[in-house]
Amino acid sequence: MDEGLMKTYARTDEVFVAGHGAVLQDSTGREFLDFLAGIAVSALGHGHAELATALRDQVGKVVHLSNLFRHPYTEQVATRLCALTDMAAAFFTNSGTEAIECALKLARKAMHVRGTPERTSFVALEGGFHGRSLGALSLTWSEKYRKPFQPLQKVTWVPPEDQDALANALRTDKPAALVLEPIQGEGGIRELSPAYLQRARALCTETGTLLVHDEIQSGCGRTGKFLAAQHAGVVPDVVTLAKPIAAGLPMGACLTTAALADTFQKGEHGSTFAGGPLVCRAALVFLDEVDRGLLGNVQDRGHQLREGLLALQRELPIVREVRGKGLMLGLRLHHSADAVQKALYQRGLIVNCTATDVLRIVPPFVVTAPQVEQALQTLRSTLITFPAAPKEKDKP
Ligand SMILES: Cc1ncc(COP(=O)(O)O)c(C=O)c1O
Repeated sequence: MDEGLMKTYARTDEVFVAGHGAVLQDSTGREFLDFLAGIAVSALGHGHAELATALRDQVGKVVHLSNLFRHPYTEQVATRLCALTDMAAAFFTNSGTEAIECALKLARKAMHVRGTPERTSFVALEGGFHGRSLGALSLTWSEKYRKPFQPLQKVTWVPPEDQDALANALRTDKPAALVLEPIQGEGGIRELSPAYLQRARALCTETGTLLVHDEIQSGCGRTGKFLAAQHAGVVPDVVTLAKPIAAGLPMGACLTTAALADTFQKGEHGSTFAGGPLVCRAALVFLDEVDRGLLGNVQDRGHQLREGLLALQRELPIVREVRGKGLMLGLRLHHSADAVQKALYQRGLIVNCTATDVLRIVPPFVVTAPQVEQALQTLRSTLITFPAAPKEKDKP
């Protein structure tokens, strides 16, 4: 196994060959309940009929053109995304990381346009994750990811929810941008309060700092609203999206307001593949499902799952906290969550483990009520087999 590959991933032994909705099937025919959705990606689940039809149709017409030529779908996806996010212009990418790179370059360029090119640094939040290219990695908090690649871009980190530390960093550093996730995903499904998000907005306006919301994991409806920041009524200057946006195909977007829409001039940013006809067709299938009320299911199933997790917290001393919104939920344990995650996998429930002690639960948006019930039963029957008190070696 792993012949010919760089050793960057620890992968499971099963070989997955098919799926339907929130169910995945391996090569032996065994079915798993997929509550990870390819790391918060597969919003429409697996084997989605309309997606398959749209992609088959497009593959038979034209797959790739580059951004030098027009196809019918780029503007359609861009305008619909802008309407859903209160933004005015989009740049398409092939991944979340690239959407962050676009945001960082946009912030740097905006400072040049304003006549403050010395504002080159960034402020980010402890616990944040923004990707692994050199720019995005610079903002990513975990030292384990950054250390082997230093030196990186200058970043000041502030602790989440500490408004004074944020005010001090923005006023003293005068950065190009503040970059934050309204709900930290890799950081353990940690939600920022509406009060903090609103203050961050006010401080960015006061100090002339661009506010970049990284909604690559929390956006596109995963929390029940199209953007997580919409729960707090905050509009940033730049939003990055990716993961569910094209229902599993590689696509990201960096969106910005009318005031910043003309920041890049021709040739100042680009991508060979991004925003091609195939991924745009997939994005349109996803956006059609959103228009048909998909986020209602996210809200309902999210409520059902959250209530079930809260019941587990009341019953089982191993459960420390329930975190998150909609279908972006975390179950924080008193243990390292690693062994529990592996036991859940053995019992056919796919979730993963973030920030050491948190089980991340991010099912497809199309998950059904019986599937949520089944996942809760598997969680209960598995968690009950683990001791409540952490062993010394398992303490996070
Ligand atoms: C909040 C956030 N930002 C950025 C990224 C990087 O996205 P990608 O892996 O698509 O490059 C991720 C991926 O997990 C993420 O969760």
